[in-house]
Amino acid sequence: MSEFRAIAIDGPAASGKSTVARRLAEDWGMTMVNSGAMYRAVTWEVLRRGINPSATGEVIALLSEVDWGCLVRNGQTVMQVGDVEPTMKQLKADEVNGAVSLIAAIPEVRELLVQKQREFLTKGDLVMEGRDIGTVVFPDTPYKVFVTASEEVRRQRRAAEGAEDAVEERDKLDSQRKASPLRVAEGAVVVDSSELAIDEVVAQVKDELIQLGWKE
Ligand code: CDP
Ligand code: CDP
Repeated sequence: MSEFRAIAIDGPAASGKSTVARRLAEDWGMTMVNSGAMYRAVTWEVLRRGINPSATGEVIALLSEVDWGCLVRNGQTVMQVGDVEPTMKQLKADEVNGAVSLIAAIPEVRELLVQKQREFLTKGDLVMEGRDIGTVVFPDTPYKVFVTASEEVRRQRRAAEGAEDAVEERDKLDSQRKASPLRVAEGAVVVDSSELAIDEVVAQVKDELIQLGWKE
């Protein structure tokens, strides 16, 4: 058991997870970890090498060929792919959006990244956002939040960011895969952000966490 505490924030694409996690981290002085960036970095490298994302064997072989580093610098989750650090812009590219759910469905990929995610808890309190943080990465934390929003609202939010991102397609793959599917973790507080401004979502999540016993 770690002496440190984790807040787990999960939810579908464009539900507002990272915005909420970032605000909690800033306001409460913690590290924020964006686990999606890790799945995106593996996907980016798969595509850069011209590997077909559906060629599972080749993707698994790549895992041990590369030295994968993971750290948080200036509040940003940074992945090191050997000596290269893909930028957030590269990780958010449309091609990565289109392939990341295939890569994230591979159990060996998840095993590698979950191990790296857990290592962050040896350094201090943290808030981590993703799809399986409350169910798999930190199942014992009492501080679990599931942020959601209607599909229509989420599609509009992503489009407003100028991204080509079939969020419903990704959600389907993320929810239906065998390995750690997107689920509301047992005991998680569910917050629907469809009709709420970000400040209202943050306030609601803070209230819920404090009721669960979180102290600054
Ligand atoms: O920000 P957005 O919700 O669009 O996506 P993300 O958090 O960057 O995650 C990108 C993809 O990585 C997801 O669609 C999942 O396929 C995968 N992912 C995952 O499987 N497990 C996590 N803990 C985080 C992300
Ligand atoms: O991390 P995730 O993909 O779940 O979502 P995000 O990147 O935090 O939010 C997606 C977009 O929706 C961002 O541009 C947010 O500013 C916006 N958003 C919003 O307008 N209202 C909310 N209540 C939550 C997010």
